[in-house]
Amino acid sequence: MLKDINIVLGVTGGIAAYKACDVVSRFKKLGANIDVIMTKSATEMVNPHTFQVLSQNPVIVDTFTTPRYWDIEHISLAQKADVLLIAPATANIIGKVANGIADDMLSTTIMASTSKIIFAPAMNTKMYDNKIVQQNIEKLISLGYKFINPSSGRLACGDVGKGKLADVDNIVEVVKNIIKPNSDLEGKKILITAGPTRESIDPVRFITNHSSGKMGYSLAKAAFERGADVTLVSGPTQLSSPKGVKLINVNTTLEMYDAVMSNYKEQDIIIKSAAVSDYRPEIVSTNKIKKSDGNLNLTLVRNPDILKELGILKENRILIGFAAESQDVIQNAKSKISRKNLDFIVANNIKEEGAGFGSDTNIVQIINKNGEIEKIAKSNKIEIANRILDKVNEFFK
Ligand code: CTP
Repeated sequence: MLKDINIVLGVTGGIAAYKACDVVSRFKKLGANIDVIMTKSATEMVNPHTFQVLSQNPVIVDTFTTPRYWDIEHISLAQKADVLLIAPATANIIGKVANGIADDMLSTTIMASTSKIIFAPAMNTKMYDNKIVQQNIEKLISLGYKFINPSSGRLACGDVGKGKLADVDNIVEVVKNIIKPNSDLEGKKILITAGPTRESIDPVRFITNHSSGKMGYSLAKAAFERGADVTLVSGPTQLSSPKGVKLINVNTTLEMYDAVMSNYKEQDIIIKSAAVSDYRPEIVSTNKIKKSDGNLNLTLVRNPDILKELGILKENRILIGFAAESQDVIQNAKSKISRKNLDFIVANNIKEEGAGFGSDTNIVQIINKNGEIEKIAKSNKIEIANRILDKVNEFFK
């Protein structure tokens, strides 16, 4: 699925423009948002209204008469695009981009975009084989642009040879692979918890911890990029939701408990990376607690251990815990594996430089049920997330 992915489709004026309609509906079915930009000559092949209906978005039509409009619009589309696909791409658009010409809506959008740009050329065989076109393609490839090779066959003009727009299936597959290069978790449902929880004392104060949520958010991002259907239950963090992920915001451990319990059944994998508060104040004062001369005693009561309960309900699900320890890391982590019925645990020593809360890096040891340990040297959290997901994936092989 391509939920939350923004694809900008540039349609240029080849006879194959009608096939771009199919491209739009295929991406819509995969859940992507798709914006279409048509060159003026493309509008002579297909009515923009068709793309508007299929994409359910307004279509940008290049008439060369509204420079003010496209001046602003091309920047916002260029920034919004995760992928810019030009299909069909004529020799003209390839030549313009290869030579830095930006004189209409599509070429200016391409020029202003830092996203992945993919051309699916379609043209007459002799044009395609023309050295100028081939040099332009080579130049663009060397600059990091991607091409989906045209196929061979009988062309609209009657010639037989290379130049037919690649199969729509092929185009969709290439774009999907570029967005999600590794789809080894395709079809898997994964629930990840992240961040701290917050337990109110009164309307002003609360008990929490230093968790930033970065590890859990990195896991969610990496899992989505590997094709999983991701639900992220997050305590309060400063982070923005990773793309494509169903985010459930919670504050307290009890709220996290409810969110996890109402979503765990359909999951294949659950990773509990949240730093959960084990205790909460017995009484939450409705008014701000005023100071007095003496000490203040708070009675804290136990919160449910969410992971332990999941361990009881585990069945075939893969269950992974985290252990943030400051001493006896391996010993403490191993005891959590058996107490909470986990498949493996990711342990770190929060006192180690580069492994603590809030850091962009982590140093972890993955310990499995059999007590086997794999140490991952200091790496950024996305890299660590992918190593954890590699381990998860081994269970499905
Ligand atoms: N966890 C949980 N619910 C809790 C406490 C912890 O789900 N109330 C989960 C965490 O998300 C983490 C794992 O359990 O994946 C380890 O948490 P931790 O608090 O370190 O483990 P405890 O068993 O509570 O052990 P201790 O407090 O003695 O370290």
